[in-house]
Amino acid sequence: MMKQYKSMPKQVIAKVISQKEVKRGCFRMKIESPIIARSASPGQFLHILCGDSGYPLLRRPISIHRIGKKDIEILYSVIGKGTKILSGKRSGDTLDIIGPLGNGFKVFKGSRSVKMLVAGGMGVAPLLGLADELSRGAKGKNKFIVVLGARTHNHILCEGDFKRLGGDVHIATEDGSKGRRGSATDLARDIVHSKKYKWRDVCIYTAGPINMVKALARLVEGCSIESQASLEERMACGLGACLGCAIETQSGYKRVCKDGPVFNFCEVVA
Ligand SMILES: Cc1cc2nc3c(=O)[nH]c(=O)nc-3n(C[C@H](O)[C@H](O)[C@H](O)COP(=O)(O)OP(=O)(O)OC[C@H]3O[C@@H](n4cnc5c(N)ncnc54)[C@H](O)[C@@H]3O)c2cc1C
Ligand code: FES
Repeated sequence: MMKQYKSMPKQVIAKVISQKEVKRGCFRMKIESPIIARSASPGQFLHILCGDSGYPLLRRPISIHRIGKKDIEILYSVIGKGTKILSGKRSGDTLDIIGPLGNGFKVFKGSRSVKMLVAGGMGVAPLLGLADELSRGAKGKNKFIVVLGARTHNHILCEGDFKRLGGDVHIATEDGSKGRRGSATDLARDIVHSKKYKWRDVCIYTAGPINMVKALARLVEGCSIESQASLEERMACGLGACLGCAIETQSGYKRVCKDGPVFNFCEVVA
């Protein structure tokens, strides 16, 4: 199994190294923090204080997108007040962050299962870091399958990054402007059930809202028990104390921030 870098989260004032708008309203930010980079693993997240003046009061959870030696990257969409303020940060500005938080993805190194990464919209954010990890352990082309779903071709993120890492990339758009018309969930189901794969040997990693994850888990029911999903829920403390992010799972109520955000598929299937 992949090494689990479980360590205490740290609160740091970190410097923004760079920020770029990669698609309209979607930003990639590189943040300097050797201490967080050293202990972070794919699927964990940062809790970010977006404003400098105490507004908005609550931190915002954003997945760790890529992990460097001394820095970490995030990829985020501007949704409301917090992310709007974040998008105004420039190189040299500082950010108050807590991280790394939560439990990330587990990769079973000895496993022979085919790895499939399924991302709807911003779900690509935690999955690219996982692709970095998977690409290090595999040889040759098509080291893993990637299914990207988006509203239109303009909303597809990280296609080139996944390809550069050796991913066999498949695309679905709601309007059919690129790849197959429809959802990432439907495309993933068809690939899993195609003759090319023995579906029990396909291990799915996905990220997004719980309803999308539940739908995907139901559609591919029976695929590898190693399959995992990173869930999104509104958060307050981010540290497991307030129960604000609790969700119902097969094994009772769980906190997305502390017990997750990555859960096993069989825990989230209704
Ligand atoms: C573990 C985790 C990891 C995440 N990783 C990323 C990431 O890598 N990139 C990214 O772009 N986003 C990510 N998100 C979502 C991100 O936290 C929210 O988009 C952000 O908190 C919105 O803050 P805001 O102040 O801009 O919007 P707000 O002003 O707080 O909200 C604007 C509107 O969006 C709704 N909203 C806000 N957050 C959520 C949410 N989590 N679920 C459903 N509705 C919401 C609010 O109800 C409101 O209607 C993640 C969330 C979680 C829990
Ligand atoms: S946000 Fe407080 S317990 Fe998860």
